[in-house]
Amino acid sequence: MISEEKRLIRALRGKPVDRPPFWFMRQAGRYLPEYRELRAKFPKFLDFCYTPDAAAEATLQPIRRYGMDAAIIFSDILVIPHALGMDVGFNPGHGPSMTPLADVAMLDASGMKTFLSPVYEALRKTKAALPEETALIGFCGAPWTLACYMAQGQSSNDFAAVKEKAKRDPAFFADLFSVLEDAVAKHAIAQVEAGAEVIQLFDSWAGVLNEAEFETLVAAPTRRIVAAIKKAQPQVPIIGFPRQSGSKILGYAKHTGVDAVSFDDSVPLAWVREQLQPVVAVQGNLGNALLAGERSALLAEAAQIVRELGDKAFVFNLGHGILPTTPPENVQALCEFLKHGQ
Ligand code: CP3
Repeated sequence: MISEEKRLIRALRGKPVDRPPFWFMRQAGRYLPEYRELRAKFPKFLDFCYTPDAAAEATLQPIRRYGMDAAIIFSDILVIPHALGMDVGFNPGHGPSMTPLADVAMLDASGMKTFLSPVYEALRKTKAALPEETALIGFCGAPWTLACYMAQGQSSNDFAAVKEKAKRDPAFFADLFSVLEDAVAKHAIAQVEAGAEVIQLFDSWAGVLNEAEFETLVAAPTRRIVAAIKKAQPQVPIIGFPRQSGSKILGYAKHTGVDAVSFDDSVPLAWVREQLQPVVAVQGNLGNALLAGERSALLAEAAQIVRELGDKAFVFNLGHGILPTTPPENVQALCEFLKHGQ
């Protein structure tokens, strides 16, 4: 059941709210001492994600401290390549690593839902423990971003080699995207069945693509995934986040079927208000470096964002995830401002 009364759901549907709802990408994470304590129990990051009690606890930690309007399930976008059979690992300080995918036929989707059942169990446990007014968000990586890590085997500044491979070997990418679109839609639907009330699709590397590539590798796959999710779960609001995509986010908002877009500093606030907000609900976009910096500057910027966007369909968030160096007191001050200060 999706509660129509929760602030986040109301805002995503463009209904009036008493104040803009807020949550923050990576609100569970290393900036919190209680997260670091829990994290220390698991040598492997993914074992942490697949332990339902621990994942539920990590999800709830920021809610207990700050009372955001939404919790996002503690997991990772790379659980999908892992569930498809890739050897996903995380090296502290270096990010994700896996053997680059040589052949799409090596992926096996048959056991995916069983493999990911701890994520669904974590969602059920979190839902049971959340305050009544707090919405629960499930998420997936979008195919392009997953394909970047799967083809490269690790992070990169621009994924130029993956873009090159997409040009050189379109058949590989067509096969890979077909597997990923199906897997992403299935994982999203299973998260809704387990209690997620909103789905966010992270396309973190959308910004490295030109207009034509963006249409083929970001917008079209997202459109098919949104249609598949809505077919199974017509009521679930979907937030798309094609990170750093500048004005390309407008076509994405118009043509993919998402209910909302998360945006960052690649677009000006006035443009968001004039062009984007009339089309879909918008979510964003305080800089994560600002949140880690000086208090009065971050509060001034937060006030400006709320002034520009707060009277229409709007969810306050960051432009990208909370940095590990962020002082928890800054998050406290921001939450107090968003709840009481306007
Ligand atoms: O609080 C939340 O936002 C929910 C949990 C969440 C994580 N990852 C936990 C995590 C979410 C929504 C993600 C999404 C994710 N994962 C994205 C999309 C968002 C973005 O940042 O662009 C991407 C690209 C990934 C892949 C990934 N996972 C990377 C590149 C890294 C290493 C970088 C880093 O921050 O260390 C991870 C690891 C990861 N995922 C951590 C957390 C809390 C840190 C691991 C740790 O605690 O050791």
